[in-house]
Amino acid sequence: MEQLLSVGEVAERAGLAASAVRFYEAQGLIAARRAESGHRRFRRDVLRRLAFVRVAQRVGLSLEEIAEALSGLPEDRAPTKAEWARLSRGWRARLDERIALLEGLRDGLSSCIGCGCLSLRTCALSNPGDWAATLGPGPRYLLGDASGPAPAGTERKKRTGRG
Ligand code: FES
Repeated sequence: MEQLLSVGEVAERAGLAASAVRFYEAQGLIAARRAESGHRRFRRDVLRRLAFVRVAQRVGLSLEEIAEALSGLPEDRAPTKAEWARLSRGWRARLDERIALLEGLRDGLSSCIGCGCLSLRTCALSNPGDWAATLGPGPRYLLGDASGPAPAGTERKKRTGRG
């Protein structure tokens, strides 16, 4: 017999407020059944989905992105290891991009990030005359563009945010 959990039990184990559990249900990220009493009952595997949602949110992914990923999992049973692996593969490029951005944020804030402020001593070398603005809006070097105009006849490599 499948063990079903109440909202309170899910909330307690997941470390969430009951209102958050209901919110995630309303957003379609998790699904509940109704007991004869009318109360929500959740399969235990909902805890894994909630863990995924919480961690994904903490690294800056939107609820829409998370919902899209979870929509590939079955609703009527616990996802298999293979189904979680497929979700993970589908997210690899997106997560690699986030990792590179976070690493850039961690490592790049003491140097010029190509944001147009020209406020650091290094900006004069890395971003003379706000050259980075020619690449587009925002902190171009943090977003992966190479710093500084390339000397004639050479090509700059794209930053990866790593190493
Ligand atoms: S840090 Fe903003 S342009 Fe250099």
